[in-house]
Amino acid sequence: MYYPDSVIDEVRSRNDIVSVIGSYIALKRSGSGYQGLCPFHNEKTPSFHVNPQLQIYKCFGCQKGGNVITFVMEYENVSFPEALRILADRSGYTLPQETESDRAKENRTKREKMMALYKEAAEYYYRKLRASEGKYGMEYLTGRQLSRDTMREFGLGYSDGRLYETVKGRYDDAFLNESGLFTFRENTGAVDKFFNRVMFPIFDQNGRVIAFGGRVMGDAKPKYLNSPESPIFNKSRNLYHLNLARKSRRGYLILCEGYMDVIALTQAGFDNAVATLGTALTEQQATLIARYVKEVILTYDSDEAGQTAINRAIPILYAAGVGARIVDMSPYKDPDEFIKALGAEAYEERIRDARPSYRFEIEFMKSKHAGDADRARAKTEFERDVAAWMLRFESRLERENYMKLFCEEYKVDYRAFAEEVNKAGAAAERRARPAETEPQRAPEVVNGDGEAVTAVRAKKRDEILNTQDYLVTLMASNPKARRVTRKYLTPEDFTGTVYQDVVARCYAMDEDAVADVATLVSRYETPEKQRLVADMLADEMALSTGDIAKSVEDSVMKVWQRRREDLISKAKEEHDDLTAIRMWKENKKLAEDMRRRLRAETY
Ligand code: GTP
Ligand code: MN
Repeated sequence: MYYPDSVIDEVRSRNDIVSVIGSYIALKRSGSGYQGLCPFHNEKTPSFHVNPQLQIYKCFGCQKGGNVITFVMEYENVSFPEALRILADRSGYTLPQETESDRAKENRTKREKMMALYKEAAEYYYRKLRASEGKYGMEYLTGRQLSRDTMREFGLGYSDGRLYETVKGRYDDAFLNESGLFTFRENTGAVDKFFNRVMFPIFDQNGRVIAFGGRVMGDAKPKYLNSPESPIFNKSRNLYHLNLARKSRRGYLILCEGYMDVIALTQAGFDNAVATLGTALTEQQATLIARYVKEVILTYDSDEAGQTAINRAIPILYAAGVGARIVDMSPYKDPDEFIKALGAEAYEERIRDARPSYRFEIEFMKSKHAGDADRARAKTEFERDVAAWMLRFESRLERENYMKLFCEEYKVDYRAFAEEVNKAGAAAERRARPAETEPQRAPEVVNGDGEAVTAVRAKKRDEILNTQDYLVTLMASNPKARRVTRKYLTPEDFTGTVYQDVVARCYAMDEDAVADVATLVSRYETPEKQRLVADMLADEMALSTGDIAKSVEDSVMKVWQRRREDLISKAKEEHDDLTAIRMWKENKKLAEDMRRRLRAETY
């Protein structure tokens, strides 16, 4: 769905942020804005601020921020178009019929046709499982103790290898080839990809079949065959059974590795189980999970591969704002086996006793050094690993609580450990600092994708980034500050591609008729980017009123200086000593000159 900017702007301007947010949570006047208890994290004292002038919000506790649309997206767990619809309805505005390019239309028709094919395939497999051809499939599934009801609920089927015969001629071969349901060979023509397997349809969030997993009915290899990615299937953006699990009232999701685990859990009365689709958990899947729950129970295989996968999944979930606890299934391998052996109640107990993720991670780090015969070295290395790990916690309070807990539980001297954490922090900061160590990698540090950003946020923010935050926030909301800054700095003078992009857009605000921060933010395509930019444009200092002349002057100078240093070290690195020396010599005079001109600016 695509709406032009003018429509988005209209919806926003009809929905004042204070009245919208005020309808969800209690807001109190405070200074020139409003504040309240943040709806996105637990808190007792309000750190959630709404700024009516800029039409943005920002929580100084959990750092969430954005405009009225991102608020609704976040609060209601809905996508951008859905949030737009809610706000349009609220203000009695009728959204225009969606506009679509021919290309988009074509893609949509193709996707719809593909969905129809998959639906037909699912119905075909479903029928075959219940027909004579599917006798062995039925025996296999019954042998795994699945009831008829469960088989129906999951739409299980059986492939007899004759799907192609039933669809050929009705779709063209290029399309069938693209569907991934068939294999096309030069000489023999097309054959079914799935042959003599029990079939697990994979549904999207709206309950439409978008792929299949097919399992052999014995020990042959490969055990599972999964549909390849197609115009309707992206395996890193979907989760098995999420379409139903998201409706569970349990308030958390159970994340497993296998389809059979999900099915066994569901049959045992756990209606909230989901699984990845044959790959490790991805960031997109974690974001998807975060739309529905704040906690996940991880129940991967008990073997080493499973434990390693858990250790990888935890930080991905954490970065998406989802907490995790880990089920101990010993002595069994997976939920399917566990429930068969001990039953649902025993499993319920294991969920109740599930370990918080930090315990799991710490034990995992410890186990890595368990083989070291030098016990002192093993202990030191382990504690260093944990110290670096502590940097994940952005809030000092949170971090120190974990540090204290760790030191108590593992009998570690707190002061020595805190020193180690500081050291790790300084090292991480050095690595994250753009200009000094790796100039060519600087942009990545604050790149638009979530990964790099969380990595940076987890560390202490570089001072220059704070200055840049201040300056861009100010520019986005203050035309005069914008015009002054523009005279002295180019977007390239800022470090990081996102900053450069935001600065360029700030500079163009007047020409592009972008009137405020919220509009600027909403022009970014993805909600992730919108959130990132909104965060950047919510610098506390810039939002407080007061005399800006001196701080603009200082900030412009700082950004300019950093860029000069960057250029000088680059010249040195390229062995262009003459340029480096010349720039270095000019520096003082240029700086003085620039400061003089800046002082003459009026605001
Ligand atoms: P069962 O043996 O039927 O109980 O399988 P399971 O559900 O316990 O799955 P398992 O833990 O063996 O594997 C977890 C998931 O990994 C499966 O659901 C598949 O998505 C995927 N998987 C397992 N084996 C294969 C394979 O041979 N090929 C591919 N592509 N994926 C596999
Ligand atoms: Mn299994």
